[in-house]
Amino acid sequence: MQFLIKSSVGKKLIMAITGQLMFLFIVFHLIGNTSLYFSWINTYAKHLHDLWPLVWIVRFVMITLLSLHLVFGIQLTLENRSAKPDAYAIKKSLRATFASKNMIWTGLIIAGFLLYHLLHFTFQVVHPEMSAKLNTDVMGLPDLFSMIVFGFQNFFILSLYIASLIALTLHLVHGLQSSFQTMGLNTDQTQPVIAKAGVIASLILLIGYASIPVVIFIGIVKG
Ligand code: HEM
Repeated sequence: MQFLIKSSVGKKLIMAITGQLMFLFIVFHLIGNTSLYFSWINTYAKHLHDLWPLVWIVRFVMITLLSLHLVFGIQLTLENRSAKPDAYAIKKSLRATFASKNMIWTGLIIAGFLLYHLLHFTFQVVHPEMSAKLNTDVMGLPDLFSMIVFGFQNFFILSLYIASLIALTLHLVHGLQSSFQTMGLNTDQTQPVIAKAGVIASLILLIGYASIPVVIFIGIVKG
């Protein structure tokens, strides 16, 4: 345990494991969100909330993963910045991409986005008059659908989501391949495949998530 939280290899391993587990959440969350396209999101959310013990376990796990990822991410960045550049670091910086150089910034943007997102859709305090806790649909279910549609008709909220999703994509493009490398799961042969698969997965998530606010903003999905 001491090794994990004290050494830089241990911290990287924690970053890799927590990052990959949060990636799974992001995949399942998108699958759940697609229920909006079939006007099922209120029913989907009702079924989910009926499983409240499971929801609270996932929330607890997610808060733990996010806290570890954030704390060790900031620590590693500070350690890297204060370390003297050696030959390995110089060689590495020649290979650095925009995504890899800006992991701390894209990570902090995602953290800020998450705070706003929770205030918007979970605590429902951004537009309290549209809160699904107050408004119900024809079946008497909390009206998440109208709350989401109302939110994404606003250009400022649309832009905020798109900008944050671009930051998430950049973060995932580097984070996914780097996590496999840290776990020692890539070899010279598998490295290009893993890198390509990571880019494709990140782009699918970007298109999937961004499509929701965009189709609402341009009026394809209406309240
Ligand atoms: C267009 C994109 C998105 C939509 C429409 C959306 C929709 C929602 C909704 C409706 C909820 C509240 C669920 C409920 O209480 O029943 C929610 C919660 C949440 N979302 Fe999103 N989301 C989006 C993007 C994201 C992204 C990109 C992330 C992660 C990076 C994310 C992470 C979360 C988290 C952590 C929660 C809290 C879950 C909980 O209440 O336990 N969301 N989202």
